Amino acid sequence: MTWDALYASAFERVKARIRNVGGVLLAYNTNIDAIHYLESGDLEERIRKAGVDEVLKYSEELPERIKSVPQLLGSILWSVKRGKAAELFIESCPVRFYMKRWGWNELRMGGQVGIMANLLGGVYGVPVIAHVPQISRLQASLFKEGPIYVPKVVDGDVKLVHPKEFGGEEESCLHYIYEFPRGFKVLDFEAPRENRFIGAADDYNTTLFIRDEFRENFEEIASRGKLAIISGLQALTEENYSEPFETIRANLDVLGEKNIPAHLEFAFTPDETVRKAILDLLPKFWSVGLNEVELASVMEVMGEKELAEKLLANDPVDPLAVTEAMLKLAERTGVKRVHFHTYGYYLALTSYKGEFVRDALLFAALAAAAKAKLGDVPSIAEVVNAMDVPVNERAKPVEEALVREYGMAKGIAEVDGYQLAFIPTKIVARPKSTVGIGDTISSSAFVGEFALR
Ligand code: AMP
Ligand code: GLC
Repeated sequence: MTWDALYASAFERVKARIRNVGGVLLAYNTNIDAIHYLESGDLEERIRKAGVDEVLKYSEELPERIKSVPQLLGSILWSVKRGKAAELFIESCPVRFYMKRWGWNELRMGGQVGIMANLLGGVYGVPVIAHVPQISRLQASLFKEGPIYVPKVVDGDVKLVHPKEFGGEEESCLHYIYEFPRGFKVLDFEAPRENRFIGAADDYNTTLFIRDEFRENFEEIASRGKLAIISGLQALTEENYSEPFETIRANLDVLGEKNIPAHLEFAFTPDETVRKAILDLLPKFWSVGLNEVELASVMEVMGEKELAEKLLANDPVDPLAVTEAMLKLAERTGVKRVHFHTYGYYLALTSYKGEFVRDALLFAALAAAAKAKLGDVPSIAEVVNAMDVPVNERAKPVEEALVREYGMAKGIAEVDGYQLAFIPTKIVARPKSTVGIGDTISSSAFVGEFALR
């Protein structure tokens, strides 16, 4: 069978069964993404106004957090120059006001939880219970219709209501997403790849604020779920991570007692102490999802510096180095599933076997292509339309290396007692935007796998 035929058959099977997986619990980060497509002339004028030399300093090395306009513009340049994503907390109110006035092209659902809730609940029809730290009217309006619920305590009882029915007048947590296409030019810089810089003007998600309704009633909320996806730990720091980690640990214990498999959606976590703490928390998870930068950052805190460098040395990323790193991660933490995604291909290392693991990855790649093409996945029809996007040719040598090294056939191999599943993805040549594709991939693959079991 060709990859196209495998794609078509996987899509039909997941689509037919995905509604039957039962409730999915999503915690903890939801926000509003204000998407700003950068314009070169406008950005250059702003850089000159703020002082070129001052701005350029930060394009060399990112500040820890943003306290001034030159830091904001310099951090955007840092991303453009490297074609890399970055996200920083906006501490200063005047900078927040500057960003608000600079404006945006569209407002979209943001945060791993928000994006996954709209995809799973709003598009796939899978019931989800989401943690939304602040429910403003704007935040609520960005939720799609469908079986999407947030807990609301009414007369001491927990009720599950759609966010639009919550009636929240809370704060809006805005993340400004500065998107640029491949080849975007500003001053002497040219972006080698499309990507984005995120400025988080948000005091809730950045400190992993957990609502009382959620924390105090977690047992009851969890009993409505069959699966869980956890995310949003990335912005924590050595100073503030202990308290939220206590709650997360307690929540994971409840999920464990109830036999609810939990997936951790890893995101780039700059603070090393927090990254180590996440690594120590991983044994409580069933599954983890990450990209090459995130996998390399985990290898670093595991003392595997050389391997970390190998993961970032080639494009496409060397699949043998990735497999070695995934094995190390699985062995160290005992997670049953490690899902790796990069530009061009995905791998899943599992302690169990079956073609359904690969087929769920194929389904996820179609959803990712739809998200890249349109910026949002409006309906399941758009996921099937992504069949027209060609399978990425650059993944050919990756596949050949896996066939040579592990005797892989039809995307499946056995490595050190684990199953390794591989797929070449579909790559949209000129994506509308890049933010949230990773969340689309990971949630579709994790939930899709359970649909096929
Ligand atoms: P993350 O960096 O975790 O948000 O994930 C981004 C992922 O999106 C990459 O690993 C790719 O697999 C996928 N991706 C990025 N750009 C495209 C594109 N143009 N078409 C399809 N998938 C893409
Ligand atoms: C991070 C950002 C959020 C964005 C999401 C996409 O959580 O804070 O703004 O929507 O990543 O993956």
